[in-house]
Amino acid sequence: MQQFPFFYQESNTSTEALFCEDLDISEITNVFGTPLFVYSKQRILDNINAFKNAADNTGHPWKISYALKANSNIELLRIISAQDVGASIVSGGELRAALTAGFQPEQITFDGPGKTDAEIDLALRTKIKAIVVESSQELEVVHSQAIALGIVAPVYIRINPHVDAKTHPYISTGLLENKFGIDIDQVLDLIKTFHSPWLNIIGLHTHIGSQITTITPFVEAAESIKHLVLKLKQEASVDIKYLDLGGGRGIQYHNIITHPNIPFENSTNDALIPTHEEFLSSIANVFNGMDIELTVEPGRAIIADTAILVSKVLYTKSNTKRTFVIVDAAMNDLIRPSLYGAYHQIVPVSIVANPEIHLASVVGPICETGDFLALDRELPIINRSDLVAVMCVGAYGFSLSSNYNLRPKAAEVLIDGSKVRIIRKRQTIEDILL
Ligand SMILES: Cc1ncc(COP(=O)(O)O)c(C=O)c1O
Repeated sequence: MQQFPFFYQESNTSTEALFCEDLDISEITNVFGTPLFVYSKQRILDNINAFKNAADNTGHPWKISYALKANSNIELLRIISAQDVGASIVSGGELRAALTAGFQPEQITFDGPGKTDAEIDLALRTKIKAIVVESSQELEVVHSQAIALGIVAPVYIRINPHVDAKTHPYISTGLLENKFGIDIDQVLDLIKTFHSPWLNIIGLHTHIGSQITTITPFVEAAESIKHLVLKLKQEASVDIKYLDLGGGRGIQYHNIITHPNIPFENSTNDALIPTHEEFLSSIANVFNGMDIELTVEPGRAIIADTAILVSKVLYTKSNTKRTFVIVDAAMNDLIRPSLYGAYHQIVPVSIVANPEIHLASVVGPICETGDFLALDRELPIINRSDLVAVMCVGAYGFSLSSNYNLRPKAAEVLIDGSKVRIIRKRQTIEDILL
């Protein structure tokens, strides 16, 4: 893998400044303003290659399928689709985006517990690889629409394997109290009662959660599914050819960038994150000797660390309890800290010599106490008009952004070596109101 594309380097202003690939971030914001999502093309390619190389090294034929929900910017999708990976979608909108970006229908699988009739119709007509069915009622709808269209529906059944992913409850999906999938104990009966020439049940799917930093829950889910595959063969004569083990691979969020003048962050989890190869080979081992195509559908692990959110400091203030750094990015731009207490490293765009370090909370302008990007964080002193960069925001950053408080959405730019181009224009208030 190449060097991490975000790093500090001497700049025209003689202090050390944050760069992305060959470009100085502060010069980019002079042109495009803030808040601004800045993506590195090189990092996207590196992340995909790292996954593919690790998959090759396991000796098992893996398919990598990018989960569009993590980030569906059409220009980024064009880059990803050109790398010969599949697309995992969760809505009719994402289906349109995937096709527009160049993914082929036979590379696309459609997940999600609440597909509308219109979305199922579109998926069948488009002839995607598989509709991932999450309930018996959905299977009935797929069945009746397949008959109406005269198309045999390719189906995967999403399994709820009762596995605790030990991640934040809001992004845990493999337990019976979660709305996802069909209880693994109900699948055999369902498939037995649903024999039809219009349904081609070719695969099983599971996705146990996101930002999972250990291998054990994935292997537990894989073991349960293997057991089910064997049972389906023996007791229902159903041959499962495809197994999609979902996304969920966790990544490092601390110390993404280091410099002697910015505080080192304490983290227990990051050091333990297994390599792609350890992760993929542990799962592949479960299916040793079985003639089955394995897929993973990562979102975060492909796109999270390819981007930063650059924001300008509007004001600072202190009271006896806290110091606040109020910046022009807010929870509408990056909701992860407010939604699940997610951690993002925040660093100054310009390094100052011998900085005084203090505890500060980086907050946005939105009228909610929950509108924060970091609470009580050790940071070098930051002043009005300084720029800060929030690291690792490529996944579930822009894709979860909103217009709350009638704030226009931020612009997105892509850096490719010494070139920068806008890949999403900054919204204007007219875009929202009219
Ligand atoms: C079905 C499914 N697949 C893949 C993903 C991608 O997960 P991650 O970004 O954690 O890799 C998600 C995200 O929640 C998902 O729901």
